[in-house]
Amino acid sequence: MTSTSTNPYSGKLLSNLLQGKVAIVTGGNSGIGKAIVQTLAELGAKVVIDYRSHPEATEELEQEIGSYGGASFGVQADVSKLEDLQRLIDATVAQYGRLDVIVNNAGIETRTSVLDTTPEQYDKVLDINLRGVFFATQYAAKQMISQGGGGRIINISSVHEDWPMPNNTAYCLSKGGMRMLTRTAALELAPHGITMVNVGPGAVATPINDSTLNNPELLAKLNAAIPMGRMAQPEEIASVVGFLASDAASYITATTIFADGGIMQSSPGL
Ligand code: BGC
Repeated sequence: MTSTSTNPYSGKLLSNLLQGKVAIVTGGNSGIGKAIVQTLAELGAKVVIDYRSHPEATEELEQEIGSYGGASFGVQADVSKLEDLQRLIDATVAQYGRLDVIVNNAGIETRTSVLDTTPEQYDKVLDINLRGVFFATQYAAKQMISQGGGGRIINISSVHEDWPMPNNTAYCLSKGGMRMLTRTAALELAPHGITMVNVGPGAVATPINDSTLNNPELLAKLNAAIPMGRMAQPEEIASVVGFLASDAASYITATTIFADGGIMQSSPGL
């Protein structure tokens, strides 16, 4: 008897959810990116780990994935350099023959006021967080269109694509741009079977938040502002990406999935 179920989970081992898929994760050797690499590999994808520094961290991750029979390799590429981005896509296709998913995760912030952010800081944030994502999308989509069969573009945005963070204006600007990039480019890519979605984390316990994590007073204040009372662990963001990369998320595009412990809706109780 053949199954007529349209349930994407039907008859599948969940650990093989991404079997046969090839995924790139930018900024993949630390923080949220590292957890995404681990999750996608654990779900059966072959993963290309883009990184800019700390090759030893990438090697460690490759070994960890290899230890249970997963497939991955690292490519040192700076997402703010267009030739590096193309080299990243080319290396992926050379090694694994195709590209199904790109997770644009690499990102930085300056935590500086609009009053004293330098042109250099501004350019760096925008080049990595927005220009890099724009062209990674363009190059990845061209590869997906030429190989056929659609694809997934998943951008790690932030609650701050929509929610101001004073003294981090350049960062908010980059994430606000990412919001419209996804909403607009997704419409152009939909006829090609390519979906494009943002994941918007709130506060996550990763190196980008070290200044808060190392300051008990600030941490208590932040935790108090989060309805769930705590920061997220990187795995709690990575699991959302795993779902979005899978067939189960086939109809989600041009939007943002927030995983923020409720912080965007928090209220002082007035
Ligand atoms: C920022 C963090 C901030 C968090 C919650 C993230 O996008 O990178 O610095 O703590 O949002 O506000």
